[in-house]
Amino acid sequence: MRYSRIRQKPGENMYITSTAVYLAELIKIIACLAVILFQKKSIERFWYVVNKEILGQPGETLKMFIPSALYALQNNLLYVALSNLEAATFQVTYQMKILSTAIFSVILLGRSLTQGKWFALVLLMIDDPIENTIDNSVVNTRSTTHPTSQLLLVAQNPLIGLIAVITSCVSSGFAGCYFEKILKTSETSMWIRNIQMGITGALFSFLGMIFYDTQNIWEGGFLQGYDSLTYSVVANQALGGILVAIVVKYADNILKGFATSLSIIISGIISFYCFDFHPSSQFTMGAIIVMISTYLYGRPEKSIIITTNDILKISIK
Ligand code: C5P
Repeated sequence: MRYSRIRQKPGENMYITSTAVYLAELIKIIACLAVILFQKKSIERFWYVVNKEILGQPGETLKMFIPSALYALQNNLLYVALSNLEAATFQVTYQMKILSTAIFSVILLGRSLTQGKWFALVLLMIDDPIENTIDNSVVNTRSTTHPTSQLLLVAQNPLIGLIAVITSCVSSGFAGCYFEKILKTSETSMWIRNIQMGITGALFSFLGMIFYDTQNIWEGGFLQGYDSLTYSVVANQALGGILVAIVVKYADNILKGFATSLSIIISGIISFYCFDFHPSSQFTMGAIIVMISTYLYGRPEKSIIITTNDILKISIK
């Protein structure tokens, strides 16, 4: 994402981020509709479900108004943050969402976290050396693998970037836990919920696009500045969003934070084989910290052993 924002091919327009956010929402809706069609195996049954669950229940779509508005805001702010902060600074500050997610899990989902779990979460959050190392390496590798695109560095404003990233962290924590609550307290399928959320999300991002970029789009076209990298950024946002929903449904938002951190290690391994990335001692340290915090979070806190004698004593009482 960041690479797609900082490079600019001479003589060509930069792509408009609001169109990318809007396009990602449309792709999400189409992908979820395709899954439902695949599950139902016939057009009639597919239409029946779409009519009954989506068109026939606008109130349910309205329920997704809050998280999708927040995600639309967050998805736009991420481009602002990435355009104004160094990649490593962005990665490190965006880690704060681990803590905001934990706080909203307690407030919205009534989850209680033991001291040990809070310790594991803080450990994961302060584990920034990995991000620094891997991120710089990937950015550098990419710029050398695309020698034709010259880098014209765009002016950055770190304060704006920081405000954008902090707002994104709060939004991520709240929207994630709100979505998790809706998903886990109703019978409606995740694919339907994603479409409901996609509809309001598309509406918000469409309004944002019209509000900020009508003139630009009018002059240069909707897809101005798009190339294969832009399309892959959009597809990654769309499919990544669906993946987030799957993780939230079958696990939870806090575990998602751990999964994201573990994924950095996987990126390291892939970069080692594909991009000539050599893990530094910092990277190895960071990887070990991620593993320790994941273990600390996942291990049972107290094992209570109940013997047959105990059960007998309780029954007699
Ligand atoms: O950084 P964070 O984990 O909060 O990002 C979540 C991302 O997943 C956002 O881009 C959001 O738009 C997307 N998402 C989605 N559909 C959902 C839940 C999240 O597209 N049901």
